[in-house]
Amino acid sequence: MTKLPQWRDYVQAVQSSPRMAPAPRIIEAGGMQIDLTAQTYSQQVVDAVSALLQVRHFDSTREALFNGEPVNTTENRAAWHTQLRAPRPIEEVVEQRKRALEFVRRSDSERRWRNIVHIGIGGSDWGVRLVVGAFGYAGMWRNIRFIANIDGHAVEGGLAGLDPRETLIVVASKSFKTAETMENAKRAIEWMHAAGIAEPLNQVIAITANPEAAQAWGLQQSQIFQFWDWVGGRFSIWSAVGVAAGLAVGSDVVAGLQSGAKAMDDHFLSAPVEQNAPVQLAMAGIANRSILGYGSLNISAYDARLANLIPYIQQLEMESLGKSVDVNGEPITVPTGPAVWGMPGTDAQHTFFQWLHQGSDGAPVDFIACQHEDHAWREHHIQLLAHCLAQREALMHGKSYEQAVQECRAAGLSADAAKELARHRVHPGGRPSNLIMLPSLTPFALGALLALYEHKVFVQGLVWGLNPFDQWGVEYGKVLATDITAELKGAAPRATHDASTRYWIEHIRSQME
Ligand code: F6P
Repeated sequence: MTKLPQWRDYVQAVQSSPRMAPAPRIIEAGGMQIDLTAQTYSQQVVDAVSALLQVRHFDSTREALFNGEPVNTTENRAAWHTQLRAPRPIEEVVEQRKRALEFVRRSDSERRWRNIVHIGIGGSDWGVRLVVGAFGYAGMWRNIRFIANIDGHAVEGGLAGLDPRETLIVVASKSFKTAETMENAKRAIEWMHAAGIAEPLNQVIAITANPEAAQAWGLQQSQIFQFWDWVGGRFSIWSAVGVAAGLAVGSDVVAGLQSGAKAMDDHFLSAPVEQNAPVQLAMAGIANRSILGYGSLNISAYDARLANLIPYIQQLEMESLGKSVDVNGEPITVPTGPAVWGMPGTDAQHTFFQWLHQGSDGAPVDFIACQHEDHAWREHHIQLLAHCLAQREALMHGKSYEQAVQECRAAGLSADAAKELARHRVHPGGRPSNLIMLPSLTPFALGALLALYEHKVFVQGLVWGLNPFDQWGVEYGKVLATDITAELKGAAPRATHDASTRYWIEHIRSQME
């Protein structure tokens, strides 16, 4: 990629352009306003982006994505999550969508399942947590618990206090093989048995792309909701994985999410590059990461209901873009996907914003906020938005030494003391950010927001030349963990372990005996 003249032109354009647009630079998409003012901008950058996308075959690759062609080249699969939110999708999607809706409708009309225990991990978990946190924050008539981690405390806490007779277990796993999920599901079944339930499997449903494995596990076909290998785990909230969300916060929420995502799909497909929100977010991210050298991206959602948006985007971005070879297996010679981290504002301000303002590295920030609140305390919302705007302004503009001296003098310090203290009160400013303003936190808006990030990641993968749809690193860790599990249980440790790993396997084993 770095050999492309269009890449070199892009680098040159970014390096020589101002770090801010001269006037508010706001793109409307999916009902949101996306403010990119605090990103490097000039006509030269705009032109260089277009030229670069052209040589990276943006139009035809985007078409291939939406047509369900095998854009996931290392696994020879489509990444066709957009099909799951299409108003008129392919037949099997219609059928599974209908079955899931019917299951929720029947459970609701019979007032069945006071408790839902959703067992899944990664993409089979974060989306449902996010949706339930966003729309169930003020209470639901059903309890919903999540069990993801293999840590036994997670399953113990997840089941504690529930009446097993009123509990539905939802096992969500694309592969129906993930060690954490399968082990946790077994514990849930044992818990039901121990409570005297003769046929616990009758209280289980599975959401999977491997229905054969779910059947072999003991479930009837009627208990299995299917999705397909062309739905990546981190994109699976659009599939039947959302059933537990439907049970917890309603099928209308799930439908709203899908129509919001569809609106963003339409925008992504039709908006010209300069007005295309996912494209512009992607290119700002590439400039920050590969040219200006920022190693991470901070997500500060100024909405307490969006706490789970951070791990959701973290998985989406880091599993997709945490790669350093291109689709041909050649090393990519610029830094790719940033580390993603964050916390809801205003908690974030009292946790890490000091580092963002005055630390030596800093990080671009995605500020996410809602224009309108859904509670009755206007004062809270005004203050929340004020904090969001204030942090962003401070990062953009900073504070000069002269300003700091003046401030100290105004506070009554002597000239010498003011000069001394002012050195600590300087803020460099010029730190990039985006402000993504939702009208309010509706299912439609959240759906559009998630699709915005999905398409942004797709464009970044395309420009960097990598495959954003595989995750071989995670797969490698899973294989090693399987071997070590066997060794901790008594199998002979592999001779190829390093000395430290070998020491710990032997030490832990000896302590267990
Ligand atoms: O974290 C790796 C991963 O493969 C994710 O992509 C996926 O969401 C998660 O594991 C869970 O996998 P499964 O849904 O197959 O249990």
